[in-house]
Amino acid sequence: MTVHQSPVRLEAALKATGRAVYEAETPMAGMLHAALIQSPIARGRLLGLDVDRVRAMPGFVDLVSHAEAQVLAPSPPLALVRESVIHFAGQPLGLVVAETMQEAEACARAVPLQLAPEPAVTAMSQALDTAFAPDLAGRYPPSSQRGDAAAALAAAHLVVRHRYDTAVNNHHPMEPHSVVCAWEGDHVVVHNGTQAVFLTQRIVAHSFQIPVEQVRVVSRFVGGGFGCKGPLWLPWLMWTILASRRTGRPVRLELTRAQLFNLVGRRQETVQDLALGFDADGRLTAIDHQVLAQTATHGDYSDATATTSRSLYACANVTTGHRVVRTNEPLPAAMRAPGVAPGTFALESAMDEAAQALGIDPVALRVRNYADRDLDADKPWSSNGLLDCYAAAAERFGWAGRPAQARDGRWRVGVGMASSVYPVHRQPCRVKVRIDVDASLLVQCGTQDFGQGLYTAMGQLAADGLGIDMGQVRVELGDTDLPEGPFTGGSMVTASFAPAVDDAVAILRARLAELALADAGSPLAGAEPSDLIFEGGLVRSGSRDAAERLVDLMARCAPEGLEAEGAATLPEAQPFSANGYGAVFVEVGVDPDLGEVRVRRCVAAFAAGRIINAQMAHSQYVGGLIGGIGMALHEQVDTDKATGRIVGDNLADYLIPTHADMPEFDVTMLDEDDPLLPSGIKGIGMLGSAGIQAAIANAVHDAVGKRVRRLPIRIEEILGQ
Ligand code: MOS
Repeated sequence: MTVHQSPVRLEAALKATGRAVYEAETPMAGMLHAALIQSPIARGRLLGLDVDRVRAMPGFVDLVSHAEAQVLAPSPPLALVRESVIHFAGQPLGLVVAETMQEAEACARAVPLQLAPEPAVTAMSQALDTAFAPDLAGRYPPSSQRGDAAAALAAAHLVVRHRYDTAVNNHHPMEPHSVVCAWEGDHVVVHNGTQAVFLTQRIVAHSFQIPVEQVRVVSRFVGGGFGCKGPLWLPWLMWTILASRRTGRPVRLELTRAQLFNLVGRRQETVQDLALGFDADGRLTAIDHQVLAQTATHGDYSDATATTSRSLYACANVTTGHRVVRTNEPLPAAMRAPGVAPGTFALESAMDEAAQALGIDPVALRVRNYADRDLDADKPWSSNGLLDCYAAAAERFGWAGRPAQARDGRWRVGVGMASSVYPVHRQPCRVKVRIDVDASLLVQCGTQDFGQGLYTAMGQLAADGLGIDMGQVRVELGDTDLPEGPFTGGSMVTASFAPAVDDAVAILRARLAELALADAGSPLAGAEPSDLIFEGGLVRSGSRDAAERLVDLMARCAPEGLEAEGAATLPEAQPFSANGYGAVFVEVGVDPDLGEVRVRRCVAAFAAGRIINAQMAHSQYVGGLIGGIGMALHEQVDTDKATGRIVGDNLADYLIPTHADMPEFDVTMLDEDDPLLPSGIKGIGMLGSAGIQAAIANAVHDAVGKRVRRLPIRIEEILGQ
């Protein structure tokens, strides 16, 4: 069920022609440039920074470090900018501002540092005894127990018990993090590519102890984020804003690609112990999923990696747990399908192992264990299209007629599949919609578009609701001066704003109807409000042959335009659980001599509520699947155990999938009508990023009989013992 108009991305031409101004490009007169001084050691203390040695260098203007940052109000995200303790290699120890970027970088490199190094923990294995249960973003308890998994495993017909490992990944959006900021008196404007303008505004206001009204954060275009343009970037931003206040001039900081490896988050490394128990019919009788993951010495971030195992399948006895180990490495953050991607790699690999041991088709095994309600929350689903996804994707893939042990030249060909799932999240949202005398629309919300197509989707919903052509719609986003909208993440933005747009549009429609019906000069006079249809620039009666052009109605009754603010709030409690679902099937080729793995075909079906724009939704799914291929076959951040530094912190050494690595993607979006969710929307951004990792591992096993339980699956995993 798409809305009537499904246009191409509104800002496509702006971006393709380079006319879209990203925040780092914001011009400002008299701008200074900033560069970070970074720690060469992974643990210890900064005793001193000898600023006098660089004062005379060309262009030097100011240096800000923890000592200068004591004027900022303390808060957890600001810990590192106010203290001299060194937690990881590359940690910023100071920020130099100079007249040019080159001069700032030269000064930053030249500042002598007095350091007191201490022995660092550079791998989880060095500190296992310190593992503790983390807070899972406040959303889920770290452990869970339903029934008695240990007893059920002891009594099971089949037990599949293995350890699954996933590597550290980095987000790497095309656009690096940046800020351009300027003070005017005690007001500050912050141009910042971020997923969270309102959070940024509140933390800037708190840190500088000024009212939020004196802080404006602007983020009109964001060149990708994937989870890393959230809170972890704030400390380095804060030094820049402080330098701008001290110097009385605009300051600009843009992170380098190397800095993106350690200053703005990562997908945490996991070691997952998973045991599945089955009866002779292939019904799950027990799940025990225990996760160990890396976090930093200065923060507790952890993904909710085992939570999918609590509810994806029907199983009476389930135990899950999470523990994290602090290392002197960067703090992790949410990264595409956080938790669900590594968690389903383990669960969906183990399901495949079980299918083989039981002699049951992998799809049939999953169908047999379908959960018709959420046993973890003890609630019904709002809707659950998983079975339809299996059927649709299996059909398009040709799963039933797949050849066994196929070969193609040097390639052994294998196939595999897996389930995907991602929970529905929402945040409150306010939206303003204005119709002018020429029946053009202006839609405004402060939330930011980080490339997923929010400008277009929001404009479409408003245009559709009032029967106005997309050519007549303008959308303004990414500015704290606009009504407050959600954080861009967790696949929640469309689900959050759609009911707010629907609300604003309903108010406008009611007002327009009132004007039309009350006016004796209108052809619609005397009609019932419920009879009116807004379509094709007209307000018309649904039951008789009467209509009026919106422009005529506006000119006569509201020449100054009409405006409405819509709002969507969150319910206190929800009597159901809501997830988007998918099924991913892949065909891989494996060269058994060279260990090379290629994804040759990918067929996926997703059921995730109402789709607003089919073209952009398809693109989101394909992007998610590509990210999943990267996690499965390419991406791994390595820490040098001796120094704690990241090895190969550049895009030549950190492998990401390229066009040559991509198969054809065949994506089916199933119609799903979910009347329990506001505006029927679930959110789709993360759903494509989970499941495919296990589907690839399962297909590799099918091709060459080698079960790889460690991501990424690289040549050495195929050829090694
Ligand atoms: Mo996301 S991983 O919440 O941008």
